[in-house]
Amino acid sequence: MLKLFVLSVLLCATCHVAFAFAGGLLPNGNFEFGPKPSQMKGTVVIDRSGIPEWEISGFVEYIKSGQKQGDMLLVVPEGAFAVRLGNEASIKQKLKVIKGMYYSLTFSAARTCAQEERVNVSVAPDSGVLPIQTMYSSNGWDSYAWAFKAMSAFIEIVIHNPGVEEDPACGPLIDAVAIKALFPPKATNKNILKNGDFEEGPYVFPKASWGVLIPPNIEDDHSPLPGWMIESLKAVKYIDSAHFSVPEGKRAVELVAGKESAIAQVVRTTVGKVYTLTFAVGDANNACEGSMIVEAFAGKDTLKVPYQSTGKGGFKRATLRFTAVTNRTRIMFLSTFYTMKSDASLCGPVIDDIRLLSVRNPRLV
Ligand SMILES: *[C@@H]1O[C@H](CO)[C@@H](O)[C@H](O)[C@H]1NC(C)=O
Ligand SMILES: *[C@@H]1O[C@H](CO)[C@@H](O)[C@H](O)[C@H]1NC(C)=O
Repeated sequence: MLKLFVLSVLLCATCHVAFAFAGGLLPNGNFEFGPKPSQMKGTVVIDRSGIPEWEISGFVEYIKSGQKQGDMLLVVPEGAFAVRLGNEASIKQKLKVIKGMYYSLTFSAARTCAQEERVNVSVAPDSGVLPIQTMYSSNGWDSYAWAFKAMSAFIEIVIHNPGVEEDPACGPLIDAVAIKALFPPKATNKNILKNGDFEEGPYVFPKASWGVLIPPNIEDDHSPLPGWMIESLKAVKYIDSAHFSVPEGKRAVELVAGKESAIAQVVRTTVGKVYTLTFAVGDANNACEGSMIVEAFAGKDTLKVPYQSTGKGGFKRATLRFTAVTNRTRIMFLSTFYTMKSDASLCGPVIDDIRLLSVRNPRLV
């Protein structure tokens, strides 16, 4: 009986159908296992199940790091292989997860042709279209986060290029696909804001030194940064202490898109009560230099916090004191200016450790 059990466990060592996926890189999530020569024509994968663990459809190319496209040398962030999704192409993988749980999905992508490229990520019934732009990193690759709620224990993750270009081979490169279960934090008596220190958020690749872009949540209400909404048009960047300077804990947010992106949270407040919003403003130690200003909003009250960045890390704290005039107050942060590094990639001030508390006895403070 025991032998049989051990045997079935061994047989199932690579079988992710039996157990819920614990999180991290998906099986063959970095495409290091590729098609056999008979499943390819040049770089194009011609067998639907040619890439182990994945099912493909449409014009999918299997790309080796160092491969040339015109005068461009294609580099791959994780390992030596990636895929390129041509017109209407998609890759998908089935996975067992925990029903009802929220997950973030992180993947790395690079744009290869001149026009703006997009990918549609979906886990039924959720989907989101993410623009792939080369504005935020030096090497052309960025990691993107998205989130979904598992409506069933068996899910199918689909990454699709909805584009239709003249050159069918034009389309984004995709590498390193991972998921992570999210545990939405609650407000406490030490902080009315949820996840004010940003410690709960999307999966960050241990080797990716460019952070994770959190796109604006236009189409869904599940944020990969629990508690927070990304408003406006552009992304914010989620950064980790392994690769960046972070004011508090292991994670923070870099406001990389000036006034075009803002992060916000709506909290319950009591009309007439006095509150203090404290937060840290700094730089990520990523050579992002210059005069920066972070604008904090609490309803109609605002505070502009100037920060002179030498690009070498550091931070200061600021406090916005306000009296609530409504029973719900929108707390929001944005960067007044665009900032660029010497390689023209976008960067900006870092915010972290945001706390909101009501003041018991305002006259004593
Ligand atoms: C994205 O994909 C999902 C699932 O296939 C689909 O329902 C949705 O309409 C697509 N969105 C766009 C904008 O193409
Ligand atoms: C909050 O304010 C709105 C409008 O001012 C009101 O309709 C609502 O009942 C209030 N809610 C609470 C819980 O006081």
